[in-house]
Amino acid sequence: MADILVLYYSRYGATAAMATQIARGIGEVDGMQARLRTVPAVSTVCEATEDSIPAQGSPYATLDDLRDCAGLALGSPTRFGNMAAPLKYFIDTTSSLWLGAELAGKPAAVFTSTSSLHGGQETTLLSMMLPLLHHGMLLLGIPYSETDLLHTDAGGTPYGASHLAGTDSDKPLTEAEQRLCRALGRRLAEAAQKLSA
Ligand SMILES: Cc1cc2nc3c(=O)[nH]c(=O)nc-3n(C[C@H](O)[C@H](O)[C@H](O)COP(=O)(O)O)c2cc1C
Repeated sequence: MADILVLYYSRYGATAAMATQIARGIGEVDGMQARLRTVPAVSTVCEATEDSIPAQGSPYATLDDLRDCAGLALGSPTRFGNMAAPLKYFIDTTSSLWLGAELAGKPAAVFTSTSSLHGGQETTLLSMMLPLLHHGMLLLGIPYSETDLLHTDAGGTPYGASHLAGTDSDKPLTEAEQRLCRALGRRLAEAAQKLSA
């Protein structure tokens, strides 16, 4: 089995719910499985530390998770139209992988959750692609052959999967949002399989 890393940060659970659907899509491809990982919150108090294993949810990511994976799905809540600081903080620790071009040629995709429909899903998705392009990763979006993209009135973009969580961040994923997450996971896993063949 080859692993696709589903690496995400989620404060209130919406991005985590998307990660679960993307993982399901990955698991639908023969020989591929999802490895779910998260990152700890960052603190303004630099002495603050987290346990090395979170109390609940996915384990924290390490550089080896990135090194080992056949592909990457990167997910973050939208914060001021951009990815959340904890995820960016982790990405900023990947210089050694960049120096060795260890992620170059691996497929990648991105996903995000917002509280408002026009609150920056696309800007977040596009800006999340930037460090992955520096790493030489091959970015995948969602094609319009996934016809949910034509009709969605919640999340769903050609740049990656997205979710409209509402102002209290408590709206469940719609059926269309779930289908698009699974389609993105499948597409990523299929691309990784073809690239390694
Ligand atoms: C500091 C901060 C900035 C945010 N900025 C935006 C924003 O620009 N646009 C938006 O629609 N939602 C914004 N939100 C809301 C989150 O994107 C939204 O609640 C998201 O669904 C949370 O995902 P999570 O449940 O995975 O933590 C922001 C939330 C916080 C805490």
